[in-house]
Amino acid sequence: MSTYQTVDSVPRLFGDSFSARPQDAYEQLRAAGPVAWAEVAEGVHVLIVTSWAAARELLADPEYSRNPEHWDRVAQQRVPPELAYMVIPGIQRTDGPVHERLRRALEECLAGIDVPGLRTRVHKDSRALINRFSDRGHADLMREYAEPVVALTFTDLVGCPTGTADQLRSAVHTLTFTEPDATQGWDDLAGILWDTVQTKKKAPAADLTSALLTHPARLNDQEIVCQLASLIVLGTAPTAAWIGSTLHALMTEPAYASQLVSGAVTIRTAMNERLWGRCPVANSSVHYAPWPKTLRGLQIPARVPIMISHAATGLDPSRPGRADARDRSHFGWSAGVHRCPAPSLATTIAEAAIENAVDALWDLHAPTSTVASKHGPFVQCPAHVGALFAQVQGREWLEHTKGA
Ligand code: HEM
Repeated sequence: MSTYQTVDSVPRLFGDSFSARPQDAYEQLRAAGPVAWAEVAEGVHVLIVTSWAAARELLADPEYSRNPEHWDRVAQQRVPPELAYMVIPGIQRTDGPVHERLRRALEECLAGIDVPGLRTRVHKDSRALINRFSDRGHADLMREYAEPVVALTFTDLVGCPTGTADQLRSAVHTLTFTEPDATQGWDDLAGILWDTVQTKKKAPAADLTSALLTHPARLNDQEIVCQLASLIVLGTAPTAAWIGSTLHALMTEPAYASQLVSGAVTIRTAMNERLWGRCPVANSSVHYAPWPKTLRGLQIPARVPIMISHAATGLDPSRPGRADARDRSHFGWSAGVHRCPAPSLATTIAEAAIENAVDALWDLHAPTSTVASKHGPFVQCPAHVGALFAQVQGREWLEHTKGA
């Protein structure tokens, strides 16, 4: 540890100051980098990779494990409940052939999703949500729009009863945003998914649960619950964050806001820019060195988490292709064997939701240009996305979409 900053002076990736100005913590980490200590909960220290080149090296090294059994705090039962996100089971915590088997099953089931049907579903849910606030002239597009539209979409994709969307959303919230009742959130999520698996065994339908039940990999019920939970935990919060953060950028950043009024904005450009400029999956990809190793000349001790700050690597000044309109070198979707299996699915959902809001809410603008993030190190999500818009348009939209 002598090669790093001392742990009593490291930045905190949680708490009010981090939520208000995460960039300060990343600048401090970058100055101490390319790998530096940070605190992810009271007294819990991890190594954070901030340089794009170091992240690429780590992601390509098969000697690191994703299994949290390699974390000394797990063996000592000293992982605080709010960090359940780091230890819940699922594909993201597996290695080698176990990971390959689960990954193939997930990829093949995801490939069977009817994308035009998904887009139609997102449009329908978006309109229903917009109709709830369109004649009010103001809304929190995070809480009233981005989060519920994604929860409804995933409930449908997975095949859970529609009435469980709010429960799923709050369970994921406790886990992702490091709330004290995160372990209860995990129990609630696993309970809903277990019931869904039992229902789909008797009455299969066109959904991911039924597809996993009949997949040739022959996953058992517990494995299916864990993989569905991975899809929901890793899929919903970042997609909602992406929608909220892009809508906020469209309303507040001069380059976009002027084009938004004239209708010429490229939503895709704004979405892509957010993937590296305010990366939804901020600090993730938890690795463990099974024995002491080196990374770009720095010693990596065994049995401590080493995480990639996708938020920091996106803004690394030495990243190739940075800020290019076609920028594809960022790690917003990660890379290597654990890269996100669903970028096109996430794009379909987010783009449809953003387009609907922009089309429906005329004269859309934000009351404030700055916005704090929700708490916790893992997902960078606006706490609120306040929006003002013309009330009359809301009513026209309501009339227009009656019976849709
Ligand atoms: C804006 C939206 C999204 C972003 C930015 C994003 C980003 C990421 C990143 C950075 C990882 C690597 C995590 C790690 O190594 O620990 C990841 C993994 C994963 N993502 Fe996504 N994701 C998004 C949406 C989705 C969606 C919609 C789904 C599901 C439908 C999904 C499912 C997964 C799964 C299952 C993994 C684990 C893959 C593995 O370990 O092999 N993600 N994602």
